[in-house]
Amino acid sequence: MTEHVVVEKDKGILTLTLARPDKKNALTNAMYGKLADAIEAAETDTAARVILIRGQGDMFTGGNDVGEFAAIAAGGGRGEQHVHRFLRALVECSRPLIAAVQGRAVGIGTTMLLHCDLVVLADNALLSTPFVSLALVPEAASSLLLPLRIGHGRAYEMFALGETVSAKNALDWGLANRVVPLDRLYETAGELAARLAAQPVGALAATKRLMRRADALAAQIAAESECFAERLRTAEAREAFTAFAERRPPDFMKLAS
Ligand code: COA
Repeated sequence: MTEHVVVEKDKGILTLTLARPDKKNALTNAMYGKLADAIEAAETDTAARVILIRGQGDMFTGGNDVGEFAAIAAGGGRGEQHVHRFLRALVECSRPLIAAVQGRAVGIGTTMLLHCDLVVLADNALLSTPFVSLALVPEAASSLLLPLRIGHGRAYEMFALGETVSAKNALDWGLANRVVPLDRLYETAGELAARLAAQPVGALAATKRLMRRADALAAQIAAESECFAERLRTAEAREAFTAFAERRPPDFMKLAS
């Protein structure tokens, strides 16, 4: 099977590359599994001092694979859902996490950035969290973290209307550390990763622990996951996934409230 996440290690930097460009790096259960394995393993790997996440092709990721959502909505997907392990790994990760983002970062593509310690955007980056448009709810503790970061009004527009945020606004609103021309994205992220790799790993881990409330994040994720699982099985969600497969806009107004 083609590997859709490439894992590389060099000079203390563990690089995880989403590598499914023909499907806009849409994340599958197998991809979450591989990401979770790599982040978990980094905890005890002295050669993985910093983790850099990036995506191949013209965008970071189109978010969760909508076909897999549809399969769960139809009653499938009863095996282990690795997304839960991936989210736990993000919350518990003591290593610095850096993201390098070009083009679209949809859904979990944006919410995972809230768990990254440094976010570098290419100037063509566009962040969006259109959960409600898919008849779903926010995940990855983003219902807590996004309003905290950018304020309720902006977060609500992103969640409820699927508003897309430009790289410039993301920087102004504190969602990103740097915006650079596309051809300097990996260079800039790599330079930051190298600087962090040279820092004392124990002090970095302790600082990150002090800056984040892992218990609160885990509790928020648990509450979101329960609601998300319920929403996945609604008539609203079936309409959203069918519309995506049929490449047409969903018609929620035909559904009863
Ligand atoms: N799940 C499954 N397949 C996806 C996908 C996703 N999240 N995102 C993109 N793809 C697939 C498309 O179905 C298409 O497949 P095909 O070539 O077999 O038809 C391929 O990737 C290219 O996507 P396309 O829509 O043609 O590219 P685009 O540049 O016009 O648009 C997006 C890119 C990401 C804006 C658009 O694909 C999109 O809106 N995807 C869904 C995003 C989403 O709702 N994610 C879940 C959030 S919770």
